[in-house]
Amino acid sequence: SLDTKIKVAVLTVSDRASLPDSDPDYDKSGPAIQEILADNPAFSFTYHAIVPDDISSIQDAVKKWVNDGGVDWIVTTGGTGFSPRDRTPEAITPLLSRLAPGLVHLLVSSSLKYTMMAALSRPVAGTIARSSIHGSDENSESVVGRETLVVTLPGSMKAVRENLTVLLDSGVIVHAVELMK
Ligand code: MTE
Repeated sequence: SLDTKIKVAVLTVSDRASLPDSDPDYDKSGPAIQEILADNPAFSFTYHAIVPDDISSIQDAVKKWVNDGGVDWIVTTGGTGFSPRDRTPEAITPLLSRLAPGLVHLLVSSSLKYTMMAALSRPVAGTIARSSIHGSDENSESVVGRETLVVTLPGSMKAVRENLTVLLDSGVIVHAVELMK
């Protein structure tokens, strides 16, 4: 049923795609992620937003989805490289309550089979706690609550397809979300 599906939100991070007068077809990777998810019965797509390569814009979108409580997995695309404006890892890292370096290794190592340029992506992955869990009481750290998994993917459609193939075909995302319940 829909309830047991992993609810996924997709964030496109791109200055150009976020411009108000930008061609709606400019963002290819956000829709590509949605298509791949639509073909997989384990997942249900929830939200898609496009934000500029700006730390607060990225964080605001992610925090909103995390605190909604209805999103299990947030996939971002774009802003992981070395261009002057690439800030996605810097935006996501301070939000993470638990790092998932294993997922990062999986993404980079599998991507290197396609291109050595994969070494130029700086992906981060981990879980984000709902802000309501972080109460002021000293025991709040020990409160067990539902977290949201976040994975940052590169911006190109090719990279998105390659990365999602390994994440979905390996079963690691399904298993991670099962363990987080
Ligand atoms: N990963 C995979 N699997 N396939 C790719 O084609 N392209 C790389 C890298 N990771 C690529 C990849 C390139 S060329 C860049 S510059 C970085 O992702 C960063 O991309 P981003 O800045 O759009 O996030």
